[in-house]
Amino acid sequence: MFAMQELNSKINIIRGLLERKSLSKAEAQKLLGLDDKNFSLLFEKSLEIKEGVKNILVCGGAGFIGSNFVRHMLETHPNYKIVNYDKLTYAGNLENLRDIENNPNYTFVHGDIIDLELLNKTIRDHNITHIINFAAETHVDRSIHGGSKDFVMTNSLGVQMILDAVQANKIEKFVNVSTDEVYGALELESEDMFREDTPIMPNMPYAAAKAGGDLMCNAYFKTHGTPVIVTHCSNNYGPYQFPEKLIPFFIFKLINGEKVPVYGDGLNVRDWIHVRDHASALDLLLHKGTPGEVYNIGSDNERNNMEVTKMMLNILGKDENSIEYVTDRPGHDRRYAIDASKIMNLGWEPVYTREKFEQGLKETVDWYLANTEWVEALQKKKEEMNNWQESFFKKKS
Ligand SMILES: NC(=O)c1ccc[n+]([C@@H]2O[C@H](COP(=O)([O-])OP(=O)(O)OC[C@H]3O[C@@H](n4cnc5c(N)ncnc54)[C@H](O)[C@@H]3O)[C@@H](O)[C@H]2O)c1
Repeated sequence: MFAMQELNSKINIIRGLLERKSLSKAEAQKLLGLDDKNFSLLFEKSLEIKEGVKNILVCGGAGFIGSNFVRHMLETHPNYKIVNYDKLTYAGNLENLRDIENNPNYTFVHGDIIDLELLNKTIRDHNITHIINFAAETHVDRSIHGGSKDFVMTNSLGVQMILDAVQANKIEKFVNVSTDEVYGALELESEDMFREDTPIMPNMPYAAAKAGGDLMCNAYFKTHGTPVIVTHCSNNYGPYQFPEKLIPFFIFKLINGEKVPVYGDGLNVRDWIHVRDHASALDLLLHKGTPGEVYNIGSDNERNNMEVTKMMLNILGKDENSIEYVTDRPGHDRRYAIDASKIMNLGWEPVYTREKFEQGLKETVDWYLANTEWVEALQKKKEEMNNWQESFFKKKS
């Protein structure tokens, strides 16, 4: 009992010293013998309150990952202000945020990241302190079959515009959300993983355009000291994903009694992460990531497409007769695998680990089945997309 009181008073003294900035985090950790994770648990909230409100500009917040991130931040940091800046392309959907649109800490601005004037005005109007960028053209098949201009405009030039806005407005931190696809592909048989120092070697136009934005971040940090972090995350799954991407695309097809198209031999491997785990990793990096650094994000959950397809068939009570093999995508990367040890050493860990993948997938299927209004609102877009998408799925002879 006495030892507990002594420990509590030691913690209170150290909290006070940290808040007055009379003690560094490293010194406090040493005094208490705490690792990063336990230190965060004990002190993060008080430091956050002391640091004051953060006003965060979320570019591309109406898309799949952006909207999950906005919801995560409003729930986790009720004193932060979130401004969602989105162009509302075919992939942007304000229905994703219908339940929080009246939250006093949330504002939507309709804008393009290429429009530097509007970016600067939005930053000034809302006293923005931090920026995170999800805005992108993201559909690989579109970048292959539909031309790449929009991809380069948003994914490369758009990032550069944000970097200029960060510089001009003395933003404290900018996190540019990117993808593991910039690293290219790994051999199916190898045990290699993408690390932060793996060379950038993109194989398709989408990934090359993303790499352009990432390299510009690196150049701005080196040239101007711009406080930017780049993240490379693996494939996301979860609620609110536009139904042109594998998991919702398959769910919609199976619900409608249609066959699902599996590319090539179905053995291409992706490393799946739940979108809410991605959101919590980005939250951590906004607070604790070091500018100039790159961080990989992944849940150590490699699965081949056939395995994921079979799990979905099983969840929806279908069999393999619902599979149709189609000609492989040109330049289809064979395998992605993320080494996420760097961000894990900062204190992040996923809730949906490899062991919980099937549970996460089932919850995702259930979410699409339960949210019929959201699904119906997308029906028109989906039909337009299906016609477009079906045009390049060729049945294997
Ligand atoms: N989905 C994944 O599995 C995955 C994995 C790793 C990284 N990422 C990255 O995460 C980010 C978000 O991905 P997502 O799947 O949520 O994408 P998404 O396609 O669902 O959403 C993109 C959002 O960006 C908006 N947008 C597009 N161009 C814009 C512009 N010029 N100005 C302002 N807004 C614009 C769209 O309206 C949409 O709301 C992307 O940068 C993507 O590269 C995605």
